[in-house]
Amino acid sequence: MLSRGGSHFLSGHSGCMLLFFLGIGSLIFLHAEAATKKYQFDVQVSNVSRLCHAKPIVTVNGQFPGPTIYAREGDRVIINVSNHAQYNMSIHWHGLKQYANVWADGPAYITQCPIKTGSSYVYDFNVTGQRGTLWWHAHILWLRATVYGAIVILPQQGTPFPFPKPDSEQVLVFGEWWHGDVEGIVKQGNAMGLPPNMSDAHTINGKPGPLFPCSEKHTFAMEVEQGKKYLLRIVNAALNDELFFAVAGHNMTVVEIDAVYTKPFTTSAILIAPGQTTNVLVHANRTPGRYFMAVRPFQDVPIPVDNKTATAIFQYKGIPNTVLPSLPQLPSPNDTAFALTYNKKLRSLNTPNFPANVPLKVDRNIFITIGLGKSVCPTCINGTRLSASLNNITFVMPQTGLLQAHYQNMKGVFTSDFPDRPPKAFNYTGAPLTANLFTSHGTRLSKIAFNSTVELVIQDTNLLSVESHPFHLHGYNFFVVGTGIGNFDPAKDPAKYNLVDPPERNTIGVPTGGWSAIRFRADNPGVWFFHCHLELHTGWGLKTAFVVEDGPGKDQAVRPPPKDLPLC
Ligand code: C2O
Repeated sequence: MLSRGGSHFLSGHSGCMLLFFLGIGSLIFLHAEAATKKYQFDVQVSNVSRLCHAKPIVTVNGQFPGPTIYAREGDRVIINVSNHAQYNMSIHWHGLKQYANVWADGPAYITQCPIKTGSSYVYDFNVTGQRGTLWWHAHILWLRATVYGAIVILPQQGTPFPFPKPDSEQVLVFGEWWHGDVEGIVKQGNAMGLPPNMSDAHTINGKPGPLFPCSEKHTFAMEVEQGKKYLLRIVNAALNDELFFAVAGHNMTVVEIDAVYTKPFTTSAILIAPGQTTNVLVHANRTPGRYFMAVRPFQDVPIPVDNKTATAIFQYKGIPNTVLPSLPQLPSPNDTAFALTYNKKLRSLNTPNFPANVPLKVDRNIFITIGLGKSVCPTCINGTRLSASLNNITFVMPQTGLLQAHYQNMKGVFTSDFPDRPPKAFNYTGAPLTANLFTSHGTRLSKIAFNSTVELVIQDTNLLSVESHPFHLHGYNFFVVGTGIGNFDPAKDPAKYNLVDPPERNTIGVPTGGWSAIRFRADNPGVWFFHCHLELHTGWGLKTAFVVEDGPGKDQAVRPPPKDLPLC
């Protein structure tokens, strides 16, 4: 248990801003009070023991996982991040739309330079038009291995959930744990040009559970009462693993993903990719007892993965700890069919209050291939290092924040010529390919006209190997209008799109050897990172960014940078 340093919440002051809504067909005024929630994040090193070893890790306020941020839809959130650790640092508010507020997004070298040791930066943003569960994490190196936490956005006061009101709720954040120092392990892997050692355990709220050694006291338990309903706010903060999750003996009803309500459906297990969040309702209606909640990776290609199961306990009140819990039946690790069927069930709620505003007309079609490959590396073990590319371009991280370069029209930091298609069409998902392994390198971005509608098809390829990739777009939610296995067919596949109630999210698991089509309206100006949320692949260059141009309106342009913006 790690609670040293305590939490440094400053209290939420009330901003006393009245928002008026005109009742439909009547003159009833409702008001909701927008508040300002303030948090102090002290990034600091703390000793934490797991799996029988203690090691220093980077934390926020000495907590692992870090503090949960609570806000209501409409609130302003101000977080002062003070960096006392030896690493330069930045924090990203994953899934927060940051409308016209890109300086607060957080990815290092994209929207800001890192906060240097001994310095601070204030992230100041409004939570607008979103409610549900999101999360925050370090966005530099692999520091998010220990620097992460949940963001809970409650609906406005007086606005109910569109599902039965739970009696209580619980945040469950999944992560990965390494015996050794993560940054050291990554450095070693990079020097050799090979993947770093995989994690030694998965965790639920920072704890691996009793299937691991020395872990009885590192087991998360939630107490439930017979007959009550619980909302589980689930976050996959793992670095590299897509995870299955189940509760023994209990079904779950999925009600929200990535802070967007869904049409409820019942399932025995969920699938959640790194970066994604899922809210489920669980009814504690079984024989009172102790039931394991368990997570284990989904991996449907022969690429090694940390396949160990982390557990926590769904514990009925009054049941002694001596009762042995039962394990849930998780889908088998390579259960592609479960993954595809599960993802098909995800649909936007699409009601008058929570409409799915899917762009029906597309201004710009972009097709991006995902490639794994090798780059020349004379000092590496095989003379090559593993790398990754989008449309055959391995992204090179700049030395200056891209947003600053964009805002100040600096030359020589990036180019805006990221291509809308790969250099050459090929049978993307046929037999394993090696011909295109050597790709070009560059800091190439894609420029998008303000308010244009974009359809982006992300195509997995068999360059080196097919694999499932969770792609995350900063600054936006998008609609997943279609997905399929094999090569995307622009002549046939669009006819099968769901343009009515497709899932709306910020991170999409592109299926192994398949494609996903997403649509969004580019109404948020700025420089927005787009990358695979497997940290391994991000590091190998599986990333780019969109420069969304300013619009004509007053609130449609990138604002001047905050005074305390960290510079490089
Ligand atoms: Cu959750 Cu750019 O990341």
